[in-house]
Amino acid sequence: MVSLGLEDKVIVVTGGNRGIGAEIVKLLTELGAKVAYTDIKIDTAHSGALAIAADVTDLASMKAAAAQIAEKLGPVYGVVANAGITRDNFFTKLTAEDWDAVIDVNLKGVNHTIAPFIEGMYERGSGSIVCISSISGDRGNAGQTNYAATKAAVIGLVKSLARETARYGVRVNAIAPGFINTEMTKAIPEKVKEKIVAEIPCRRFGEPEDIAWAVAFLLSPVASNYISGEVLRVNGAHHT
Ligand SMILES: NC(=O)c1ccc[n+]([C@@H]2O[C@H](COP(=O)([O-])OP(=O)(O)OC[C@H]3O[C@@H](n4cnc5c(N)ncnc54)[C@H](O)[C@@H]3O)[C@@H](O)[C@H]2O)c1
Repeated sequence: MVSLGLEDKVIVVTGGNRGIGAEIVKLLTELGAKVAYTDIKIDTAHSGALAIAADVTDLASMKAAAAQIAEKLGPVYGVVANAGITRDNFFTKLTAEDWDAVIDVNLKGVNHTIAPFIEGMYERGSGSIVCISSISGDRGNAGQTNYAATKAAVIGLVKSLARETARYGVRVNAIAPGFINTEMTKAIPEKVKEKIVAEIPCRRFGEPEDIAWAVAFLLSPVASNYISGEVLRVNGAHHT
């Protein structure tokens, strides 16, 4: 029998209450990891995982969550920066608030997620960080200039941080999901969805578990030990 080597590894997932984050929490727990998840809103229990209310826009809140995780589960091996929001509109209609909200969660939030854990990883000489970017950050998407800018920025952060962390045995990667069936994409009108699906060679939206397995792969010290600074596209060949 082979394994991904995630048994008993402590892994933190932000935005784990629902959607892609919830599926990541579920799969990592099934793979034997000790999982903690944070969210601004906790109204779902994931069996075997530690739930903590914390806001990624607030560094103090993430530091407090990190202290709780260290006390209850032990030293953290893996961090999944998954929490994200959209405030979509055409460029001329986006407000300053739409920009700030998206930058605060999707970009500053990633920094606040990684910062409380990274020095511990350096001290222990091991760790894996996975940030959830997006096809929009990779390819661009009309109606998402604010969102795409943050998701492209996360790719820059990942590529730069990977160069800093390598000497400490810590890997940093991004996943760029295509369109995935979650609450986030529920708002897309059916007609628009049909048009998007027609552009996807796999002829469907992805499912949260499609992303969860990619996260497990990139966290794995067995499966992806020589992969760092990479962006893994999980999009049914929508953009290659
Ligand atoms: N669904 C897609 O098609 C798609 C495509 C590409 C990338 N993504 C990215 O995947 C990630 C997950 O998206 P999803 O589709 O599951 O969305 P979702 O809206 O279903 O879930 C996002 C979760 O993040 C939480 N969250 C929001 N703001 C937060 C904050 N300030 N602090 C802590 N938690 C917060 C929400 O409460 C929610 O539980 C996001 O980063 C998103 O940008 C999604």
